[in-house]
Amino acid sequence: MVITRHAEARAVLADTRYVPPPVRQDAPPYTLGWLRARVSRFSSGETHAERRRALEDRLAELDPAALRRRAREATLERGGEWRGVPTRVLAAALGVRAPVPLVEAVAAGYLSGEESPAADAAVAELAGLLGDGPSVITDLTLLLQAHAATEGLIANTLTHREPAGVEGLLRETLRHDPPLRATRRVDRATGEEIVIDLVAANRDPAVFAEPERFDAARDETPHLTFGHGVRPCPASAHALALAAGVLDALRPAPTAPAGSPAPMPASAPKENS
Ligand code: HEM
Repeated sequence: MVITRHAEARAVLADTRYVPPPVRQDAPPYTLGWLRARVSRFSSGETHAERRRALEDRLAELDPAALRRRAREATLERGGEWRGVPTRVLAAALGVRAPVPLVEAVAAGYLSGEESPAADAAVAELAGLLGDGPSVITDLTLLLQAHAATEGLIANTLTHREPAGVEGLLRETLRHDPPLRATRRVDRATGEEIVIDLVAANRDPAVFAEPERFDAARDETPHLTFGHGVRPCPASAHALALAAGVLDALRPAPTAPAGSPAPMPASAPKENS
């Protein structure tokens, strides 16, 4: 079943009867399957609650304002080459060494579950770099959840050229062009798979006026891009801070006074960092 209405999407996301599709539990150590069996994202019930608490505690150590400042500086230092910046800045804030190409190699199959020797090798290498402490899985989860979603948000925001502030642009991009376009659940009672179409829910005319129109002047909207209910994104503030920092460096300030230094142009997104 595909859900496209906002109210139904919220109801499913808030109901513990619906859980993420189960992942295999028998993968060899230090492979993608091994990692997916250990993260909050694909677990449910008390296991999920415990893993999520560890993530929230770790996130509480990170200051979104500092992430934004650092993302802006890092983008400027790299001459506007922003790909990889959010992940680099996040890894530095967590105090871990996690080269972007390795995170990228794992991120490719992290949500889909598509296993490959390259993804398995990258998991093993990252786990080796992060060490054996209790926070390894927590930190890996944060880096993997952050990587593609945050870069997707930045890339989608850069397609809009309106002379609007960074916050308004990000807010409306999240609603209108979400980087994650769908999320899945399984009905624990029946086994039925449910796809929640986030693009459609975010443009539900029952909730959003002129839903197809991109309008960076909208106030805060109840978009579902950061999820809802039992397991919403615990890092929406961090994601917004990382994206805003990159955009601070790339986008002209909308009300820059005449004669102020020229802003850096928005560079075309690169495929690799
Ligand atoms: C624009 C960027 C981002 C978007 C749109 C986004 C969106 C989401 C959504 C929709 C979920 C829930 C998935 C579901 O219910 O099926 C989620 C979960 C999660 N996100 Fe984000 N996210 C973003 C960035 C980040 C960042 C930067 C971090 C970490 C610093 C992060 C950490 C997490 C974690 C750990 C979970 C799993 C939570 C759980 O299992 O309960 N996300 N994210």
